[in-house]
Amino acid sequence: GIDMDFDTAVGSLFQPEGRLDPYPAYDVLRAHAPAFPAFENQWFVTTHGLVSRLLRDPGLRVADTSDYDRFWTDWRENRGVASVVLSMLQTNPPDHSRVRRAAAATFTARRVAAMRDVITAQVIDLIEELPARSDFVGDFAYPLPIAVICALLGIPESERRWFRQRAADLTVVLEPISSEEEMKRADKAGRELEAYFTGLIADRRHTPREDLTSALVAASDDDAVLTGEELLANLVLLLVAGFETTTNLLGTGLKILLDHPEQADRLRSDPGLAAAVVEEILRYDSPVQLTSRYTTAPLDLGAGEPLAPGTMLTMLLGAANRDPARYPDPHRFDPDRPNIQPVSFGGGAHYCLGAPLARLEAQIALPLLLTRLPGLALAGAPVRRDRLVLRGYASLPITSGP
Ligand code: HEM
Repeated sequence: GIDMDFDTAVGSLFQPEGRLDPYPAYDVLRAHAPAFPAFENQWFVTTHGLVSRLLRDPGLRVADTSDYDRFWTDWRENRGVASVVLSMLQTNPPDHSRVRRAAAATFTARRVAAMRDVITAQVIDLIEELPARSDFVGDFAYPLPIAVICALLGIPESERRWFRQRAADLTVVLEPISSEEEMKRADKAGRELEAYFTGLIADRRHTPREDLTSALVAASDDDAVLTGEELLANLVLLLVAGFETTTNLLGTGLKILLDHPEQADRLRSDPGLAAAVVEEILRYDSPVQLTSRYTTAPLDLGAGEPLAPGTMLTMLLGAANRDPARYPDPHRFDPDRPNIQPVSFGGGAHYCLGAPLARLEAQIALPLLLTRLPGLALAGAPVRRDRLVLRGYASLPITSGP
């Protein structure tokens, strides 16, 4: 708990045991300061107020543009997988604003709302196929988001298995530290996905359909809004950004509800509570624990010397979501909190484009699981994924009851 010292708290986030439960360390770091230097040229930001404000600060950049050429060379040579780097997630204005506008104009609220029936049908199929004992992550939380994103992008059912593996391999690029072998696999997966999407783009250019891929191809071609490279990079991003994150939301969400049976019962009897329950799940154990920004000019955070240009600011989203100044009794799971608004989807210009879709999937899936499987229970020890950024379960053994 709070008797942990500061250095131990920083270090624990980079160790497998510390990552199992980072919240005690976050408490120590937040109590230390809203922002402080954790490593050379890298500051941690810990409070809800400061994280929210800095995510919206137009003076900050998602990539270290003070030395852009070096950043690029480093990514291409050492981290591989150009596609994710070229996507809107790693792009600054003015390019970001242009690409984001094109993507938002095609990935609309209407398109997401139209997915409700597809999601519901998938959820019911997956529930019906669940064996009496299963792994919720492998048998439900993985297949649902991949089916949904494939349906959205127009990727045929026969490709989903292949996709699932490639997407899982590629998401390690979102981690600050990965093994050489993981990076090699990610790079290979990235190239294979790019090759696949290149074919899909050519197909939709020739024969447009109702899917998001066709809409993005049209935006790219007709209005020349996106370059070919940007189109490809952002299709790959839509696949990977919405996949493991949503898997983790579903896995974490179910585990929290099984740990809080009184809340599960309330949701069973009133599925209208789903929106509040999902927001509180997002706050309580965010699927994305951190994201980073870089200063381009001296930044005064009121903590002595201003930060030098090129300083990395790591926003600890998971710490901000448990900030007692914003959330009384922050370690309590309480869907009745007013005005939850966690920073789990980020904030400002890069605010998660898929947030409405992710929320909809969880809001449909969790109540249906609980009502259709009233005997749903844990059937073994859950295994955490050993990741710092994308937090969730690698496996969650369940029994779906008699
Ligand atoms: C961006 C979280 C699901 C697409 C982000 C960011 C966060 C996030 C924190 C901002 C990163 C930053 O500011 O540096 C999540 C979580 C999800 C989820 C927690 C699920 C629970 C999805 C889904 C999609 C998606 C389902 C799409 C199908 C994107 C895209 C961006 C993004 C395209 C980049 C937006 C931009 O750079 O302008 N997400 N996401 N996400 N997310 Fe999500």
